[in-house]
Amino acid sequence: MQDIHSAQDLRRKVAAVIQAAGSTTAEADKVAANLVMANLTGHDSHGVGMVPRYIDAVLEGGLKPNTGVATKMDIGSMLTLDGQRGYGQVIGEQAMQMAIERARQHGSCIMSVGNSHHLGRIGHWAEMAVAQGFVSMHFVNVLSRPVVAPFGGGDGRFGTNPCCIGIPLAGQDPFVLDFATSRVAQGKMRVAHNKGERVALGTLIDEHGNPTTDPGVVVVPQSNGLFGALMTFGEHKGYGMAVACELLGGALTGGGTWHRPADQARTVLNGMLTIVIDPAKLGTKTSFEREAVAFVDWLRESPAGAGHEAVRIAGEPERAARRAREKDGIWVDQQTWAEIEQSAAKVGAKI
Ligand SMILES: NC(=O)c1ccc[n+]([C@@H]2O[C@H](COP(=O)([O-])OP(=O)(O)OC[C@H]3O[C@@H](n4cnc5c(N)ncnc54)[C@H](O)[C@@H]3O)[C@@H](O)[C@H]2O)c1
Repeated sequence: MQDIHSAQDLRRKVAAVIQAAGSTTAEADKVAANLVMANLTGHDSHGVGMVPRYIDAVLEGGLKPNTGVATKMDIGSMLTLDGQRGYGQVIGEQAMQMAIERARQHGSCIMSVGNSHHLGRIGHWAEMAVAQGFVSMHFVNVLSRPVVAPFGGGDGRFGTNPCCIGIPLAGQDPFVLDFATSRVAQGKMRVAHNKGERVALGTLIDEHGNPTTDPGVVVVPQSNGLFGALMTFGEHKGYGMAVACELLGGALTGGGTWHRPADQARTVLNGMLTIVIDPAKLGTKTSFEREAVAFVDWLRESPAGAGHEAVRIAGEPERAARRAREKDGIWVDQQTWAEIEQSAAKVGAKI
């Protein structure tokens, strides 16, 4: 069962819970706006359903309200930042503002941020840079539970390690490729589990390493107390990408990699290596704009294949979802909403 909410109503209620957990009004509004934007773009896994996890992380001490980035190293076009376990919605925005400003000055910026609490939908950060005409690339690791199995392995050893590439297209909406390197995002398994749905074979292995369609194996502990695991997309290729995200987003940023069994902590920390490029300073802006648009137009001219209406460009499904949900509202399943109400009660918020 699901109920429909307006974006405005969801923002107000989520902000009330985040504020009751200790955040300033400004921080609570920022976190709520970011989560609701994830719902609007069709990524419910990164939307308001994260609130219970955030509140538990605050109560456990693993997420620090009202905390900004600390600069560890700054040589102009390279920035090393520490998120100090602050809300990723605040850390991500501050870090990206700094990286964009440096790319404007120097032509490019390599920005690393470790130790941020959950950065949410990574496409949000690419969209900030792309809106100002910059290319933006992101390699991210996730320190939470080792929920994804290595290719050829039988248990979870790392997180859903997202990768994102945003590219502005002159006179058109941008290309924003933003995906988890697991075949599906972990949050989507929570949503499927809460809805009582099954998922495609090839997505999951159970706690014994056997294939399963039950999303519950990565949401609730199984009979032996262990969890199952997600599989990477694209077999050995997606697996390699996931490892690259761990090495770049975790090891190179200073945020750290995952190499221990799961614990009970609710905290989700992200490390993110970001590369921002100003095409104007690369000296190829005119041909970049012409060639990029010509290629995308060429793609769109491909006749629709069986089962498809048309060729789409990454970022389009999110923009279409946003238009529809801004008009029609956001469906939230009753299990997710009950969990949000329980979190509100934990911190004494009235929603
Ligand atoms: N912060 C974290 O720790 C973390 C971890 C994992 C994932 N995430 C986020 O989860 C979100 C969901 O990831 P996902 O893997 O489920 O995404 P997904 O599988 O829904 O989509 C991935 C990408 O494919 C594109 N796409 C979808 N359909 C398309 C089509 N028909 N043609 C062309 N392009 C198409 C989308 O525009 C998007 O860029 C992402 O925003 C990601 O950043 C965050």
